[in-house]
Amino acid sequence: MSDEAKRDIGVVGLGVMGRNLARNLARGGYSVAGYDPNEEARTGLRESEPDHDFATPADLPSMVALLERPRRILVMVPAGKIVDAVLKDLEPHLDEGDVVIDGGNSLWHDTMRRERDAKGYHFLGMGVSGGAQGALIGPSMMPGGPKEGWERLRPLLESMAATSDHGPCVTWCGKGPAGHFVKMTHNGIEYGIMQILGEAVLLMKRALGLGPDDASALMNEWNEGPLGGYLTEITADILKVRDPEDESRPLLDQVLDVAGQKGTGRWTVLGAVELGVPVPTIAAAVDARALSSFKSVRVGIATGERPAIELSTNDLRDAVTASVLASYAQGFDLLKGADDEHHWAIDRKEVARIWTAGCIIRSKMLERFMAILPSAEGPMLGAAMTDDFAPLLSGWRKTIAAASAAGHLVPAMSASLTWWEQLTTEVGTARVIQAQRDRFGHHTFRRVSDPETPVHDDWQP
Ligand code: 6PG
Repeated sequence: MSDEAKRDIGVVGLGVMGRNLARNLARGGYSVAGYDPNEEARTGLRESEPDHDFATPADLPSMVALLERPRRILVMVPAGKIVDAVLKDLEPHLDEGDVVIDGGNSLWHDTMRRERDAKGYHFLGMGVSGGAQGALIGPSMMPGGPKEGWERLRPLLESMAATSDHGPCVTWCGKGPAGHFVKMTHNGIEYGIMQILGEAVLLMKRALGLGPDDASALMNEWNEGPLGGYLTEITADILKVRDPEDESRPLLDQVLDVAGQKGTGRWTVLGAVELGVPVPTIAAAVDARALSSFKSVRVGIATGERPAIELSTNDLRDAVTASVLASYAQGFDLLKGADDEHHWAIDRKEVARIWTAGCIIRSKMLERFMAILPSAEGPMLGAAMTDDFAPLLSGWRKTIAAASAAGHLVPAMSASLTWWEQLTTEVGTARVIQAQRDRFGHHTFRRVSDPETPVHDDWQP
């Protein structure tokens, strides 16, 4: 193909994700023009896939000029100011009907602003999950924004996406910034599951005394059942890896106990708090990462190893299963809360479907959510899941009780259990809160016998 021949799509940003998505497109039979200011990145794309004829001009206007019209451009640059800079550079070269899609982990507020500011072209925000390998062989993709733009990109995105038994793992996630909101929520659920599995590993090792191979075997056994999924699978693998510097010990034991975070988990919790949607599993996971970063404080006041506990592996499995279900359910509640507020038209069953392959939180459980979601109208998905949680409750409670009594760390699993206990308790703590509010601030309360009428008492004994 000569450089003058028009290309189906342009990819801006040829770092690992951009390059692999460009390669994925080329393998699907699409012709691609790629641009990156870094010459090595442009050469890297051409050399990564020698059988494909990528056009890699040295400036952005030349790349735009190479595209079939109306143009399709995928922007894969780090979230934040760089996205705005790329859009500013692109804008003078775009025409009516062109489609620009931001595939980074952008904050949804930014996506909302960028769509509003896009003059004469369609701007879409799209979450991409699956890491570098997923980008190459099939990610899960979560586009949102103008539907005409989605329709124009649809064949390309469907050809790139991972495929499960339920079709290609890409769908239009809704209007405005819904795509990035859905991806943010995906990452919040991801934080929850990762933390729960971290707690399970700690309990296996410290409380049950399992060695790394036995812990890995147990995790693999779980992976065959309802807990089956990508994160369970990689955790089982991680447990078995030996330290290349000293093969006699597990590499995991040499990892500094401080968790990184780029921000999507925190954004999820902030968004949930703003909407009044409880996501305690995800919040506990974000807090656990934050607490981990106070390493020197923790080292200074550490109180030593906690004792072993009596706990059956089945009880632990049930606690992990219930907590992971809670992380998903809270994520889906957040999507409903956002949709009720913003009217983006998010179809949660479709979201569950496109998470069944390609993404980091892919798991068997998502098929269960696909089954429940169409008929679950209420604000709390847990209410439609009593049959799922009931058989797990005894093991869940025993695990949290035994772990907490001995001081073992179970922040996400215990937050999940408390969420469930609160959801299933008719009369909880709110009575006392209402009385306190009324006593100090005349905020009134409502009687059980007449819930419509606010009343006041001076609450003096
Ligand atoms: C994905 C991942 C991806 C990335 C996270 C890591 O879906 O492919 O979620 O987006 O690995 O952003 O996030 P933290 O650095 O916050 O853990």
